[in-house]
Amino acid sequence: MQQYNFTYNDIHNTICKAAKVIREQDYAPDYLLAIGGGGLIPARIMRTFINRPILTVALSRYSDEIGTAPASTPIKLQWLETDINLAGKKILVVDEVDDERTTLEYTLQHLMETHPDAEFSAFVVHNKKKAKKGKLPEGMKHFFAGEEIEDYWINYAWDAENIDAFAQ
Ligand code: G4P
Ligand code: MG
Repeated sequence: MQQYNFTYNDIHNTICKAAKVIREQDYAPDYLLAIGGGGLIPARIMRTFINRPILTVALSRYSDEIGTAPASTPIKLQWLETDINLAGKKILVVDEVDDERTTLEYTLQHLMETHPDAEFSAFVVHNKKKAKKGKLPEGMKHFFAGEEIEDYWINYAWDAENIDAFAQ
């Protein structure tokens, strides 16, 4: 099976280019919002180019504590503080990959429900060209993808146990 290996430099360069495209569209978010864990490093790299505070949410795909029973939809592990005022704010949700789109659908739907007076957009470093199970909710502003890629498995640098041997 074909695979991609994306190094930290690949990812940094892809995000740098994407930030330029985002700016050219006159879109300037007030906050970046990382979907943990995959969106954490991309959001931090994005902050180098779009310097806004980073908020985070975390999801689990497992419905039991030992992490073996898959949930039919993701489960919120951590969400935004209820006392943060996002009224009128533009929020760019960041994740590493849009595969089946279940994560983005769930996260954006819930963010839009819990913060109806904020404006949400999304950025993924990689968007796999494939039929998606999830849908991007209506009312979401922009969807940006750093790269449109084939439906192959991606090895990300941050998953490497031996970074010196990664993608040699
Ligand atoms: P999606 O909703 O995010 O589009 O993806 P999907 O449910 O199909 O994917 C389930 C998990 O698998 C997600 O991790 C996603 O990031 C990860 N994934 C999908 N395709 C790839 C790939 O090609 N390479 C790698 N390394 N991961 C992939 P998650 O449950 O969100 O976990 P976390 O790592 O964010 O904590
Ligand atoms: Mg994820």
